[in-house]
Amino acid sequence: MELYPYELEHFEILRSYAAECMVLLKENGDFPLENTDQIALYGSGARQTIKGGTGSGDVNSRFFVTVEQGLQNAGFNISTKKWMDGYEEIRRQAHKKFVADIKAKAHAANVPAIMLGMGAVMPEPEYELPLEGVKDTAVYVLSRISGEGSDRNAVSGDFKLTQSEIRDILILANTCKRFMLVLNVGGVVDLTPVLKVPNILVLSQLGAITGDVLADVLLGKSYPSGKLTTTWAAGEDYSQIGDFGNEDDTRYREGVYVGYRYFDSIAKTPLFPFGFGLGYTQFSIDDPVISLEGSHVNVAATVRNIGSASGKDVVQLYVSVPSGKLDQPYQTLAAFAKTEELKAGQIQHINMNFVMEELASFDTARAVNVLEAGDYLLRIGSSSRDTCICGIVRLDHEVVTQQLSHAGGTPDFEDWKPQSQQWTYNGEAEEIARAKVLILNTDALSTASQPSIPEIDPKVIQLVNDLSNHELAWLCLGNYRSDNESSSVIGNAGFAVAGAAGETTDRLQEKGIPSYVMADGPAGLRLSRQYGADEQGIYSVGDAVPSAFIDFMDENLMAALGFKKSGEMARSGKIYDQYCTALPIGTALAQSWNLEFCRTCGDIVGDEMKRFGIHLWLAPAFNIHRSPFCGRNYEYFSEDPLISGKVAAAITLGVQSHPGCGVTIKHYVCNNQETNRFRSNSVVSERALRDIYLRGFKICVEEARPYALMTSYNLLNGVHTSEREDILKDILREEWGFDGIVMSDWVVAGVKHGVKKYPYATAAKSIKAGNDIMMPGSEADHSDIMAALAGTNEMVTLTRDEVVNCAIRVAQVGFRLTESKGRLFNIIVKDFE
Ligand code: BGC
Repeated sequence: MELYPYELEHFEILRSYAAECMVLLKENGDFPLENTDQIALYGSGARQTIKGGTGSGDVNSRFFVTVEQGLQNAGFNISTKKWMDGYEEIRRQAHKKFVADIKAKAHAANVPAIMLGMGAVMPEPEYELPLEGVKDTAVYVLSRISGEGSDRNAVSGDFKLTQSEIRDILILANTCKRFMLVLNVGGVVDLTPVLKVPNILVLSQLGAITGDVLADVLLGKSYPSGKLTTTWAAGEDYSQIGDFGNEDDTRYREGVYVGYRYFDSIAKTPLFPFGFGLGYTQFSIDDPVISLEGSHVNVAATVRNIGSASGKDVVQLYVSVPSGKLDQPYQTLAAFAKTEELKAGQIQHINMNFVMEELASFDTARAVNVLEAGDYLLRIGSSSRDTCICGIVRLDHEVVTQQLSHAGGTPDFEDWKPQSQQWTYNGEAEEIARAKVLILNTDALSTASQPSIPEIDPKVIQLVNDLSNHELAWLCLGNYRSDNESSSVIGNAGFAVAGAAGETTDRLQEKGIPSYVMADGPAGLRLSRQYGADEQGIYSVGDAVPSAFIDFMDENLMAALGFKKSGEMARSGKIYDQYCTALPIGTALAQSWNLEFCRTCGDIVGDEMKRFGIHLWLAPAFNIHRSPFCGRNYEYFSEDPLISGKVAAAITLGVQSHPGCGVTIKHYVCNNQETNRFRSNSVVSERALRDIYLRGFKICVEEARPYALMTSYNLLNGVHTSEREDILKDILREEWGFDGIVMSDWVVAGVKHGVKKYPYATAAKSIKAGNDIMMPGSEADHSDIMAALAGTNEMVTLTRDEVVNCAIRVAQVGFRLTESKGRLFNIIVKDFE
């Protein structure tokens, strides 16, 4: 297959970094291998390798390298082709039955199969296959997939391993000289039954080059240097305090005790803690020195490679914030640094810093951010459970760092608090006694100032003010076609670029208001692989629908939505390529803890956006990994808001370094489950909302100024997020200074899912709250806005000014995105003409 030069360049860049996303959980020194002599390769991920999850986050790359192919490319002689053929057949049969069962259920319930099939994931089947082809060296690749529309389950073949997997993994671990268990997964699996295995590698899902990167690591051409961004524990050890996956109301009773904040605070040891990861070498972290300038804390240290191979280390700095009126988790990640490549014996001096104000917690009683008096213990180390105290910042009295307002609503419960017992380790008391204490001068703490928001161009204001009410309503809706409402299914509501998820209205172009195009992510740009152009416009060639959905769409539905099966051509005309690079999934990127790499990935996306005429990328996505069972966790970064926000900011800066390209950070906020995704209500305290769920968004907005933000499907304390003025206006715009557009998630006209406790979000109510544009838009949404303007909408009234304000922001961002010279945008149309 001949690749375009840009594809080659992108693959090369990714290959030089992607091993940094892998996390080595266990190692006994048997890897890397010295040669490519025979290797026995087993497991579902060997041939059916997963490059990323399902749904809108699935990138339609034109190919990707499976593990089998990657090992072959590297010259390995694979001895288990027969086993892989056998497994392929078993899986094929299981899949056939899985699809048939869902269709039968849908038929019985008299609903379209897509309604039950969307996002449904087949658990890996049990199998009986002789372990043929065993060699001295064996690798078992266990895979799992999940995605949009469906949460994961604590069953075998999903969160748990199947009996067949456990059996074969243990046999191979016992019989082969060198054995590695490789996890081709997007999220956690319960490794309890296979903990004895001496080498375990989280390969994750690395997009187009997954198999090649694994081969590099097996052969020591590169090395894993990632660390977990989510706690890996046995299923039953995860917190059961809050709800998860409820149909209507999901109560976040655990408050701020999410992920490691929970495990550490109740002294429960997980299988593999947050921040953990090994390499082919070892490191020491020596001579930490803390200093304080104003409220800026700096920790310097020396990292030394004390092993015999090259590697990179990720040093982490946690702070134990003193409990006062507010209870506090055992520790909170405050900063981190990744080293350069260090050869055996080499050292690097690193610096980690943060400002004390970032450690402030939300005090609900007063609606303030507060730092309470006491000793702030600084812990430096190589994982959340391998740290030592390197200093203390002492605060003599409480300081309110920011006066805020109440926002987000209130739950019907008090957040859970841990008992006093917390995780501790031998020698901690001595470390505290020895630690250098620095006194924080409270005058040095800054109280947050009002962010400045750039003025809007008066010409844009005038242009929008001159529009009729009808036109204003169009501007606040996606570019729907009144005769073709149902085409707005995931990832295919665009007209200007094939496979794009949507665009703003093109009805006002004659009035000088540009239309701009949006395409999904986050693991790359999601477009159709190829498109044709004829006298009716452009059209996707092949499947623009996520492949996991196609099984559940019958021919009538496919035809009604204008889709053709892969390979079929809908119309005549010239065919163009539109090949996008599949990147590592979100969790994998974060696991690299390498912000330069994250920025580079953004740069790759920006380059392809420019090439294919996309203005807004519908990513990065960074909801918190609140539960390991959320189906979309693979798209998201972490259970920790700091690393989430930093990674999102780095990606944003990469994309937006290309003029005319912007990101859309999503899903704002508390979109932590897929069950009843359109209408589930996340019930969350104000403190957990601010300290955990909003924090990553705040970091990204303040550090990287994203062009756009997408509200989430779910409700927050009984009100849809797109309809909550408090989180859109008071927090997002006024507190953080966000000056982009706010768009809704895709509430698709015509695809409604039965009666539930809560209604769908509506266009008029969303606009009233400052959600500028309702995507992908429909005639019904237009009528809803018009009725609200006319005072005949029973749910809500809108003043013209309220609509104008949203419309100005939509137009303004359009001008910012389209003003840059040299875009290739519209090339398609020009080409065809
Ligand atoms: C997803 C979004 C996505 C949108 C457009 C929705 O179903 O939740 O993340 O950007 O579709 O495809």
